[in-house]
Amino acid sequence: MRTGRSRAHEQHVGLWRVRNSHRHREMLRLLILGLTLSVVVMAVDEEEVLNSCMDGKHHKARPSSEGALYRQCAPWKSNACCTSNTSEEAHLDQSYLYGFNWDHCGILTEQCKRHFIQDTCLYECSPHLGPWVQKADESWRKERILDVPICKTDCEEWWTDCKEDFTCKENWHKGWDWSSGINKCPENTECRKFTDVFPSPADFCEKVWSNSYKYTSYDRGSKRCVQLWFEGNRNPNKEVARFYAVQKGLISESPVDKRTALLPLTVFLAVMLS
Ligand SMILES: *[C@@H]1O[C@H](CO)[C@@H](O)[C@H](O)[C@H]1NC(C)=O
Repeated sequence: MRTGRSRAHEQHVGLWRVRNSHRHREMLRLLILGLTLSVVVMAVDEEEVLNSCMDGKHHKARPSSEGALYRQCAPWKSNACCTSNTSEEAHLDQSYLYGFNWDHCGILTEQCKRHFIQDTCLYECSPHLGPWVQKADESWRKERILDVPICKTDCEEWWTDCKEDFTCKENWHKGWDWSSGINKCPENTECRKFTDVFPSPADFCEKVWSNSYKYTSYDRGSKRCVQLWFEGNRNPNKEVARFYAVQKGLISESPVDKRTALLPLTVFLAVMLS
């Protein structure tokens, strides 16, 4: 036999259960929303570091595939920060890109120049330089690269192939005489052998573009150094960028791919709609 009191008690308990399950669901929603947001933020951060273009003079806003890129820049065509116009200009002397004159101490040999072209391709086209992009205080670009760990092999071959060439300056970024519209050796400098100006490969790679590169003792394929030269469609530098981005604390260790970003989103929607 039920009394009025126990019915009231049952109602009270029932109401409490309903409220409590509402509160649980609310908390679960918030938790999953938080999780979703953090995974989405992580994925966006990761994309920004591992697959993006610096704010340079000719870089595209974001990397995308190009139907065709010119000669030495071709390996970047599936995902590039350069346009095909830029890739073609990268191969020209005093191109419209920077008006830079390679032949400031006599004509640069072809075997030497091809490395500078490859360096231009990497600089203009690579979407995987994020971990080394810095703000730049320069009139012609807002961002630059600093201390990109260049593969030992790429640096040494570059230096070796330029051994017979001449230059008047250690830092090719600054200090030229631009009064004629193209860079000429400044007064009171003289053309000297490359190896006199740059006694070692490390000296050369680090100084020529004011520390854009850092010499490493890693070899191509080690996944610990950035390759100027690679073949085929698979760009080995993305993995290198990931390694250094984790080391620098720019991204977390576990890769966030689109699937793992979608999982909490799906659960979130399921709980919202339930
Ligand atoms: C690239 O574009 C610039 C600017 O529009 C133009 O002056 C130049 O001739 C183009 N270069 C090539 C190789 O098409």
